[in-house]
Amino acid sequence: MSTPRIERVSIPPERAVGVWLIGARGAISTCVAYGLAGLRSGALEPVGLATEIEPLRGLELVRLDELVLGGHDVCTRSLTDSASELVRGGVLPQDLVEGASEGAAAFEACIRPGILDGPDVGLADLDPRSAALGSLPPREQVACVRADMEAFAAANALTRVVVVDVASTEAWREEREEWSDLASFEAALDAGSLQPASVLYAYAALGAGHPFVNFTPSRGSSIPALVELADSAGVPHCGNDGKTGETLVKTVLAPMFRARALKVLTWQGYNMLGNRDGEVLKESAHRESKLRNKDEALRAILADPSVHTGVGIDFVPSLEDWKTAWDFIQFEGFLGARMSLQFTWSGSDSALAAPLVLDLVRLADLAAERGEGGVMKHTASFFKAPLGGGTHDFGRQFAELGRYALERR
Ligand SMILES: NC(=O)c1ccc[n+]([C@@H]2O[C@H](COP(=O)([O-])OP(=O)(O)OC[C@H]3O[C@@H](n4cnc5c(N)ncnc54)[C@H](O)[C@@H]3O)[C@@H](O)[C@H]2O)c1
Repeated sequence: MSTPRIERVSIPPERAVGVWLIGARGAISTCVAYGLAGLRSGALEPVGLATEIEPLRGLELVRLDELVLGGHDVCTRSLTDSASELVRGGVLPQDLVEGASEGAAAFEACIRPGILDGPDVGLADLDPRSAALGSLPPREQVACVRADMEAFAAANALTRVVVVDVASTEAWREEREEWSDLASFEAALDAGSLQPASVLYAYAALGAGHPFVNFTPSRGSSIPALVELADSAGVPHCGNDGKTGETLVKTVLAPMFRARALKVLTWQGYNMLGNRDGEVLKESAHRESKLRNKDEALRAILADPSVHTGVGIDFVPSLEDWKTAWDFIQFEGFLGARMSLQFTWSGSDSALAAPLVLDLVRLADLAAERGEGGVMKHTASFFKAPLGGGTHDFGRQFAELGRYALERR
């Protein structure tokens, strides 16, 4: 079925804002690129973008036709191949992909080899240049990443670059002493201490004054040293781990049980993922990063140490991008009556994530425009593990975002 064209009044762009996607050839980035092209041409409605509805719509946000895409990736797969996979999976409409070939080619021309994370050796389609970059001393890796971002900004006359991490989930890393403050982290970099790629990307971005959004469960800008850097340099940042599916539903439902004083006994969740993200999460060290975030939100809302919770993730290739989650909740009511609720969530992971990435880019640009540095606490509703802490209750998080928006109109 072909998508209807929506007629729009065309106003020339006033400025150009760069979106530097780390993981530029992945499913989310591909949906961002083709989705943006569809929104600009009028072939798509802005469904799923919170910045297109009240109260966020009333803000002076960067326009979608003012965004310019570039990014890093460590694989050699072309953007067209990534798009074809999503067309076959029923996520991207074929006519949208055909109509956006010019924009896709422009984005492809702005993708540079990224830095490979240490434990990720042996990836399919690995770009040998990324393996070489990933083995350089950390200071040199940062310099390469920064040079790519600066070249992108200069070539496209950008007023700002917002960096978004949508790369594969990294292996879980325990907290390190050298991350505890900026001086220790800088000293560790000087000494050549190996760092997760997400941390180096975040350091490169924040140090150069680029707002940073971490959509992944990887460490990124969440380590104390980089929180300090963002605060002292006055650069906005947010993360971690986009809240798009099962956890979104959990953080809406769990407050209901609390508000009705119903005692949750068990909350067991099971996720099946068929896309490349699911394949990465097959590895236990990578899965650990994701599982921590998924369980933490629920435990924080229910605030009852006796509740039994569990989350499982399995890779089921035939599902492709259509993630399926099944949750079983057993609870107790008055008179000790035991009851249960079950829900099944089936959604296209990338179609859910892409509009959130656009929302976050616009909010990060706005924060930078207003001189608001440090953690963007008002974006907590977008994340499973919001930087800066606070409640996991989606309703309350969204109310905070609304308040932020109303104060800035
Ligand atoms: N889709 C969702 O709903 C959702 C929700 C929350 C979080 N996320 C997270 O978003 C990320 C991206 O998801 P996706 O489905 O697009 O995954 P994907 O596997 O399709 O894409 C990830 C891309 O990152 C690239 N990459 C890997 N290591 C890199 C590095 N060091 N530097 C640069 N690029 C690198 C890969 O080559 C790949 O092209 C994952 O971490 C996922 O957990 C997704």
